[in-house]
Amino acid sequence: MQAFNDPFRPAFHFTPEAHWMNDPNGLVFSGGLYHLFYQYFPGDVVWGPMHWGHATSVDLVSWRHHPVAFFPDEKGWIFSGSAVVDATGSAGFGSGSLVAVFTLHDGEARKRGALGVENQGLGFSRDGGATWEKYAGNPVLRNSGESDFRDPKVFPSPTGSGWNLILAAGDRIKIYSSDDLRDWRHESDFFPDAEGFGVWECPDLFPMNAGTGLAWVMLLSQTTAAPNGGSGTRYLVGDFDGHAFTARAPLQWIDWGKDYYAAVTYSNTVGDKRIIVGWMSNWQYAAKTPTRSWRGAMALPRELSLDLSGEPSLESWRLKQTPVRGFEDLPRSEIARISGPMPVTAEFPPAGYADITLAVTDACDSFSVELSNAVGERFTVQCEGCAARVDRRRSGIVDFSADYATSSQTMEAALPIRSVRLIVDACSVEIFFNEGSSTMTNLVFPSRPFSSVTASGSGLAELIVTIPKIPE
Ligand code: FRU
Repeated sequence: MQAFNDPFRPAFHFTPEAHWMNDPNGLVFSGGLYHLFYQYFPGDVVWGPMHWGHATSVDLVSWRHHPVAFFPDEKGWIFSGSAVVDATGSAGFGSGSLVAVFTLHDGEARKRGALGVENQGLGFSRDGGATWEKYAGNPVLRNSGESDFRDPKVFPSPTGSGWNLILAAGDRIKIYSSDDLRDWRHESDFFPDAEGFGVWECPDLFPMNAGTGLAWVMLLSQTTAAPNGGSGTRYLVGDFDGHAFTARAPLQWIDWGKDYYAAVTYSNTVGDKRIIVGWMSNWQYAAKTPTRSWRGAMALPRELSLDLSGEPSLESWRLKQTPVRGFEDLPRSEIARISGPMPVTAEFPPAGYADITLAVTDACDSFSVELSNAVGERFTVQCEGCAARVDRRRSGIVDFSADYATSSQTMEAALPIRSVRLIVDACSVEIFFNEGSSTMTNLVFPSRPFSSVTASGSGLAELIVTIPKIPE
């Protein structure tokens, strides 16, 4: 919850109680709980020797903090990775155990310039995720000299038996298979067709029911050259047979804002649900954002859907993202519902959070939505046909990094923009265009909470502002 003296602490986004956080790790659903682990440095509010912090939730909206699950040791710092439920006990830790797979990063050797310092290790829990141990035989997957070799994602193999693991190794994604999560066979390398990406990080690979049968989606994070600068997350739609991945369409951006990185999905969810969590920051300035005792927040968990039944135009082949049910089902108070010709304005309580939807009629091809506060700071979304521009240059505290708000940001939707939803929560604005067909996630640091929204343009609009009731 927001604290009186901590204006940037979100109400319904996950943040660490204190200190530094980056990537989401080990996302697994088990025993009715969503486990969220995260890259954590309990010694400072900047990045350092990495631990896995731990929290759980029943609804992905309110979270319980737990003790650190994995501490660094002589084999390395605990970098990003994933977790699965090992129903049959294939790894030897007992049936139904939870198994985490992470990168052991030898930070001291890396400081001396050594290569090959990243290897993969296992951890496990025999009590549903309450307590964790590292496997004594770590590492289980050794590096043969690559400078980057990290962020393993493990999932059941589509061959019907055993497991697959993918990880990022510089310019490629390496694919492995195993029967027991310990002994890994190299299957193939996949080279995403891109330039200027720096290195790949935090890959994910999962099947989705796409209307025409199964498609496989590969998520990839790239360290540089995101559409609006710095680090960003992309995806590919393709096929996977347990041995090799082939792409059916070009790489796309999963989120065009500046602050959506290292996004990965939950394993073992019920039914076809695919839930993604991204870290709301950008490596350009992650260590400089103006929060005090804590630093780093996760985006709202989102449910993904994909429909390939139409033409392979970009619109129908785009992943759609909507906030998870737990957020949509929160009780709300409706503050405003205004229909009519623009401009329309609604005021809302300066609590720091609000959920705002603007829908325009077909006749309106050019319009803007602007959030503002009592001291004239503003955050603007300008839409023109399929294009959007987001401007946070006058949104409050912006001078902590030259990369934070140098120019306005751009986004290209596949179809003309007809609706814009802004989910505002203390230090972030997540924008869902056309019901989640495109998204832009941004940090903001207004010196007073936003308390007004204005939609401008020529045409008819409906503006709805609700305030979610935050669970205790
Ligand atoms: C991505 C990343 C990962 C790495 C982790 C270290 O943000 O660089 O590649 O495992 O962060 O904290």
